Amino acid sequence: MFAARLARRLPSHLSRPTRQLSTSLPRRSDALFVHRDTTYNNPKIPFEFTPENLKRAQEIISHYPPQYKKAAVIPLLDLGQRQNKGWTSISVMNYVAKMLELAPMRVYEVATFYTMFNREPIGENFVQVCTTTPCMLRGSTEILDTVCGHLGGLKAGETTKDGKFTVIEVECQGACSNAPMMVVNDDFYEDLTSETTKKILDAFSKGEKPKPGPQSGRHTIENSAGLTALTSKPYGPGEHCQPEFS
Ligand code: FES
Repeated sequence: MFAARLARRLPSHLSRPTRQLSTSLPRRSDALFVHRDTTYNNPKIPFEFTPENLKRAQEIISHYPPQYKKAAVIPLLDLGQRQNKGWTSISVMNYVAKMLELAPMRVYEVATFYTMFNREPIGENFVQVCTTTPCMLRGSTEILDTVCGHLGGLKAGETTKDGKFTVIEVECQGACSNAPMMVVNDDFYEDLTSETTKKILDAFSKGEKPKPGPQSGRHTIENSAGLTALTSKPYGPGEHCQPEFS
């Protein structure tokens, strides 16, 4: 407005048309930031920690000086999410805010910033397939397609009709040396192929818990081609000394 008025007053050789800084439409995601009350997620639905979790929460809070107890917001939200079947409802957030004597907005800010807080209900098994570059270069597109296809043609972000699985696509989980990988609930499944991925999902759907870690036979991140260095017996103390120094 001011710029337009100024432009009208300036001699024509000094006035310039105002330049738009951005011409593309902003892309906003309601799912990430906005809460709308629903029948399953509204502040009237009661939430409180079980006696066991309450004890755990008090123990977590005791790790911080009383004036900094707000630092416990992330572990408390995590505890609340675990108790609330894997997702953080508005009632969980309000309860944590009350417990830490924080304005609820301070807790909403944390829960909407960190993607590990699910703000919508999830299935019994939460499958997160990493599709960042190292995993992508080693076949994560095929792994994601296998997961979605094997679970009845889901798309990333959806839950199976029986409520047993939710699948999402995630960024690097820090296990790139064992790419491609996925996280199911709290465990990493690495060095995946389509076959091993299907076996893991089948085991979860039967209520079993398959062994986490590399599925290729590797123990951790050792070279899959075997030892290529330090292949001979290391010499003992003194064995390397030249005679003139011995
Ligand atoms: S890129 Fe997939 S774990 Fe790092």
